[in-house]
Amino acid sequence: MDSLQKYYTPYGILQVFFCAFTRKKWIVSSAINAYSDHMEILQKLESYLSYPILKKVFIGVVSIAWSGTFLGAYKDGNFYWGRAVHETGELGWALLLFVIFVSLAQKIVRLHVPKFPWIARFLPLRKEAGIFAFLIIGSHALAEFLKRGVLGDTSAMIDAAFTTHHAAVFGSISFLIMLPLFLTSTNWAIKKMGPKAWKNLQRFAHVAFVFAALHVALIDFFGYGKIDGGATLSMLAYFGGYAYLWHKKKQLKTNTL
Ligand code: HEM
Repeated sequence: MDSLQKYYTPYGILQVFFCAFTRKKWIVSSAINAYSDHMEILQKLESYLSYPILKKVFIGVVSIAWSGTFLGAYKDGNFYWGRAVHETGELGWALLLFVIFVSLAQKIVRLHVPKFPWIARFLPLRKEAGIFAFLIIGSHALAEFLKRGVLGDTSAMIDAAFTTHHAAVFGSISFLIMLPLFLTSTNWAIKKMGPKAWKNLQRFAHVAFVFAALHVALIDFFGYGKIDGGATLSMLAYFGGYAYLWHKKKQLKTNTL
């Protein structure tokens, strides 16, 4: 009781206010310190995520992975082309997923957290990813021709590329769509075409993605009636994501009218 009573005196009340004020100040100042420490770490991390560094790491990692797809196919003195087809296909597919979903994620995040910097850092890597995807899928097709022993025989190669067996036809359509995108991936081509025409052409990456997804989803469909769940899910996420963006844009338009 005694100890409580002392707070009821004007001096006691003043003391409580003073304590609360200094404590609040202490909490605020330590929060500011923690925030600035946090920002410093984030800024340091962000500087490591600069395009030249990311580009080097990306090229290094993908080159090692690509070599691994062929090294892994060599066992006990034999080369298993089927394994090389499978592994190069998976790597090319992963890169295409990166190209498509990093853009989609950036567009969705920008709507809700406009200042979120992290995804935008990875956007320039779409160029390297697209070039690698094309080259790796080229090696995927080459491995398939070698597996079938048809390399050099044009009509047999066309048959192998456009068959419904393993849904290769969809993969080949995707690869053909990627060809002009690959050929115009230089700065010289951007200058020659103009940024708008170049950007419009690059939009075909979405069509290439859909055909690649059909190839992967239906790989065992024509032979065994099976559909790949991962590729189907990625298509659903793609169409769902863009439908959401379209809906949000429409909402924004009607709100500003
Ligand atoms: C963007 C284009 C392409 C992508 C992303 C892609 C991706 C893939 C993936 C991920 C697989 C492994 C699927 C699995 O085993 O579960 C695969 C297998 C296969 N791909 Fe492609 N591919 C593409 C283009 C092509 C082309 C141009 C050909 C034609 C020569 C082709 C022929 C095949 C064949 C025959 C298989 C089955 C291999 C086997 O299991 O025996 N693909 N592809």
